[in-house]
Amino acid sequence: MNIALKEKLEAYRARVESGIDQLLPLAETRPAKLHAAMRYSMEVGGKRIRPALLFAASDLFACEADPTAAAVAIECLHTYTLIHDDLPSIDDSDLRRGRPSCHAQFDEATAVLAGDALLTYAFQLLAREYGDLPSLATRLITELADASGSERLIGGQQEDVENEGKPLDADTLRYIHENKTAALLTAALKMGLAFSSPDETQTQYMQDAGYHLGLSFQIVDDILDATSDPRTLGKPVGKDAAAAKSTYVALHGIEGAQAEAKRHTESALTALESLGGKNQTLLELVRELETRIH
Ligand code: IPE
Ligand code: IPE
Ligand code: MG
Ligand code: MG
Ligand code: MG
Repeated sequence: MNIALKEKLEAYRARVESGIDQLLPLAETRPAKLHAAMRYSMEVGGKRIRPALLFAASDLFACEADPTAAAVAIECLHTYTLIHDDLPSIDDSDLRRGRPSCHAQFDEATAVLAGDALLTYAFQLLAREYGDLPSLATRLITELADASGSERLIGGQQEDVENEGKPLDADTLRYIHENKTAALLTAALKMGLAFSSPDETQTQYMQDAGYHLGLSFQIVDDILDATSDPRTLGKPVGKDAAAAKSTYVALHGIEGAQAEAKRHTESALTALESLGGKNQTLLELVRELETRIH
């Protein structure tokens, strides 16, 4: 990764992490176990990709407000999906971001409830922090809600679970990836762009970029599950094959999946170039995500 991008990503990380610290309820807030679990899962450092995409998209054009609270909100929502994804009844995974997953560190009931609370808190934050700019607040809340509901992220998770062990089919695989992963990455980009009151054409370019970036991101996640190790990845490996999940690796093999990831990354870059603005960080970040190792 080039130094300028590394520094930029570190600055984005510092910004969202100080936002997390300031905006989340204190760990001692009653009920303390619940708030400790929320902070535990939020503070265990993930890659913070969604906040970074949101910030980089907000940096394209002049912003009408500070996007930090929106970056915290999308990371709350993402973290809730990971806590629930790891539960024994879903992917049954005890390691997340290099530490015990929420249900392993606390208990299953607390993990379910900490996820519920982070989901709700994401929307509370957006309403509270941007309430004095009603059209921005509505746009942010709409993007996040549309991306994470039963016809998008949760729909993708449902079909991911339902299709375990079933014969692979390309349309279902596309539905799962497009919804369980691309929807929220697209929301990160569109929420960042919302800070500069974009027109329809700009919004559509961002939508296209998010779709392709999201597919590429999940394909790489599937490749890493098949090729990496838990120390590097911070989560278990080999789980997709063991659960006979619908993945690009299962359908196309590693090389075929890599070619698909590359193709989608190129399409994302083309859409972002058409959108224009100060896009150097965003273009470099999208390129970087294709060759990431965790
Ligand atoms: C993991 O997301 C779940 C997927 C959608 C593939 P990330 O790879 O962004 O996880 P963290 O936030 O870095 O832990
Ligand atoms: C999870 O996909 C996507 C969401 C949590 C919405 P995975 O199940 O592949 O994610 P990891 O590999 O556990 O991070
Ligand atoms: Mg899963
Ligand atoms: Mg999983
Ligand atoms: Mg995975």
